[in-house]
Amino acid sequence: MADKHVEWQDATVVECADVALGIRRIVLAPSRPAPAKPGAHVDVVVRLEGEREDERSYSVVDASADGDRIALSVFRAPMSRGGSLFMHGLQPGDVLRITQPLQDFPLRVGAPSYVLVAGGVGITAILGMASLLQRLGFDYVLHYVGSRRERMAYLAELEAAHGDRLVAHVTEESGRMSVDALLATVPADAELYMCGPIRLMEAIRRSWERSDRDITALRYETFGNSGWFEAEPFEVEVPQYGVTIEVQPSESMLEALERAGVDMMYDCRRGECGLCEMRILGLEGAVDHRDVFYSERQKAPNSKMCGCVSRVVAGGGDRAGAGSPPLDRAASPSSPASAEYRPTGRMARVVVELT
Ligand code: FES
Repeated sequence: MADKHVEWQDATVVECADVALGIRRIVLAPSRPAPAKPGAHVDVVVRLEGEREDERSYSVVDASADGDRIALSVFRAPMSRGGSLFMHGLQPGDVLRITQPLQDFPLRVGAPSYVLVAGGVGITAILGMASLLQRLGFDYVLHYVGSRRERMAYLAELEAAHGDRLVAHVTEESGRMSVDALLATVPADAELYMCGPIRLMEAIRRSWERSDRDITALRYETFGNSGWFEAEPFEVEVPQYGVTIEVQPSESMLEALERAGVDMMYDCRRGECGLCEMRILGLEGAVDHRDVFYSERQKAPNSKMCGCVSRVVAGGGDRAGAGSPPLDRAASPSSPASAEYRPTGRMARVVVELT
């Protein structure tokens, strides 16, 4: 089992405030402060449904220089597995368990230019990068994508701070942003950092790959909490362990298998590293690939999936669901065009082999 060195500590909530529709800013005072660099996050112990404990990762939006105050901003997701509900219920004086700031999304200083893309609450991972690039005098543009202004946290502050280096794409005002048009403005030698819904990041990655750009210049952060479909219960069978269990909407497949005593390999638990890969032996339904590890080509045959974030749904559009024979290889809803949900009335099921 992979592990990463983390130090847990108490942190006291010192301030809470709504900063956009459904987004709450929570300022914490850690008991053992440490500086947080742009792109850092902390893992937080949350209580689900008032009892079961779990961990969630939240970007550090901003922090004092010595880290004695760190601010998170949490979106109360309609598809929440309970973590954001818990975070929104916090009040000043509450004490949490958190890690020190962890860094999986570092900003590489020294590129000729930078393009930052934030979708929705993904701005929390990007905001600090924009501030640093501005302070250091680098060439950068920040694209901030959201459905409506009142849902876009820190938008007014960012407009004031970054002027015309901030490009706001507000769907309600100007329609859906064209990813290809955005990438056409990106200099060939630029590095692009992005954080946002999996759909947006997948679209950017596909367009990036089509344009023959250096794939290592595309960097992203995902907490693996959004997919093509709403989470629903499904059954997973692991013949090599003789285990068959039901995965609840509030948990990942990896968590469910851990609960059943299966020793799982993992690292990021966010769909980025591929360490939790499972080979798909059979499938009733469609795979909701929520990772950013596999390419579209790798996802298409549904021969493997990242169990830490990806799920299975009973519906899934034209190529899956009622028309799929039991335990057949069903197609992936890997593009918005095919991601129309058609309930089938029966629970999805997947048979996997751990690699
Ligand atoms: S643990 Fe990294 S992709 Fe699942």
